[in-house]
Amino acid sequence: MVQNWTPNSWRQKPIQQVPDFPDMAVLAAAEAQLATYPPLVFAGEARRLKSQLANVSEGKGFLLQGGDCAESFAEHGADTIRDFFRAFLQMAVVLTFGAQQPVVKVGRIAGQFAKPRSSNIEKQGDIELPSYRGDIINGIEFTEKARIPDPERQIMAYRQSAATLNLLRAFAMGGYANLDNVHQWMLGFVKESPQAERYRKLADRISETMDFMKAIGITPETNPNLRETDFFTSHEALLLGYEQALTRVDSTSGDWYATSGHMIWIGDRTRQADHAHIEYCRGIKNPLGLKCGPSLTADGLIELIDLLNPQNEAGRLTLICRFGHDKVAENLPRLIRAVEKEGRKVVWSCDPMHGNTITLNNYKTRPFERILSEVESFFQIHRAEGTHPGGIHIEMTGNDVTECTGGARALSGADLADRYHTHCDPRLNADQALELAFLLAERMKGGRDEKRMVVNG
Ligand code: PEP
Ligand code: CO
Repeated sequence: MVQNWTPNSWRQKPIQQVPDFPDMAVLAAAEAQLATYPPLVFAGEARRLKSQLANVSEGKGFLLQGGDCAESFAEHGADTIRDFFRAFLQMAVVLTFGAQQPVVKVGRIAGQFAKPRSSNIEKQGDIELPSYRGDIINGIEFTEKARIPDPERQIMAYRQSAATLNLLRAFAMGGYANLDNVHQWMLGFVKESPQAERYRKLADRISETMDFMKAIGITPETNPNLRETDFFTSHEALLLGYEQALTRVDSTSGDWYATSGHMIWIGDRTRQADHAHIEYCRGIKNPLGLKCGPSLTADGLIELIDLLNPQNEAGRLTLICRFGHDKVAENLPRLIRAVEKEGRKVVWSCDPMHGNTITLNNYKTRPFERILSEVESFFQIHRAEGTHPGGIHIEMTGNDVTECTGGARALSGADLADRYHTHCDPRLNADQALELAFLLAERMKGGRDEKRMVVNG
């Protein structure tokens, strides 16, 4: 048991990013209702994810984490979930081949509703209103009424998460995720891509491997590993009243778990060591993510690791680094060195989205080249430090949106207005996400060939 911790001990601490709920009794009633609902995930699943992440921290796997910046009530169709899952699985297959290691699959989905904001106020023309904080808190419409935080939205978010998770479980276990399907989708992508020639080599090698496996009798029919896949959920644990209501004791171990998702993370704006978000997260047993931005010092990081992973358990903590393409070289090495010096077990993951946001034609966007560049630097730095570049964390959708510029179809600033649908930050569309996977797989393979040459030469 964690010392001096209860599911509500965070309420005694200072806290950032709290919505201005107009009626605390209504909020308390919604939280009390949520506390009676069934858990969305169970502890055994969170432990399974933790053991997969433990392998990643030992250099024997790769974490792919991705999904919407913010899920929305408006976009809750089966097609949206299916298209996301399709794009995500294709990325996973390409990365598995590139890394020659198992890829741990974690969606930013089925609970990713609450958003931290840089400003409490949004201004349009002469009108100022409270900022939008995610569908679990208030509405995105720019009206006074929509922007009032409404606790009933937490019940809606819970129900949407349950329905989303239900469909994802069916896809993951019911045959849809079968490797033959994913392979066929991937070949379709390559054929249509303006960069087809570039991606074909890798795609052909995956096809050959599949043919070889088939020839020796390893097929989705004979092997459940090719028919089913583990898929886990994650979100930022920002709205702590909601998290507390879904915090339950696991009857097998007697430990507390957040049952709102398998993995939860702490945002870059709410990671103060003596504040509420760290207090809540230190007491639950789920795998945790910690966003690491440019303002995090090496000592500050070690202090947070002491609080979040005092037993130094492998798989417990993933450091999600989000510096920006031009800041990663200056910030990542000092954190790696501090963690290595102290012998702390962590998964190093790269979020190349949140440090690379710019404004173009009045749209928030992210240039594909900068996203790729931050991930490449992340890989190079880890290679130079002798540590494992363990994963990527991206904002993406399976839909054909126009939110990030660049990529093989060279989306320009003028294209952004066409299909800019995000409720918060700009996401990679399905093609851009898959391109990123192909480009990384190429680099991973290059890195392995280099190592081999060093060993053999
Ligand atoms: C996010 O992941 O959507 C986010 C807000 O990230 P960060 O806390 O790193 O800014
Ligand atoms: Co975001």
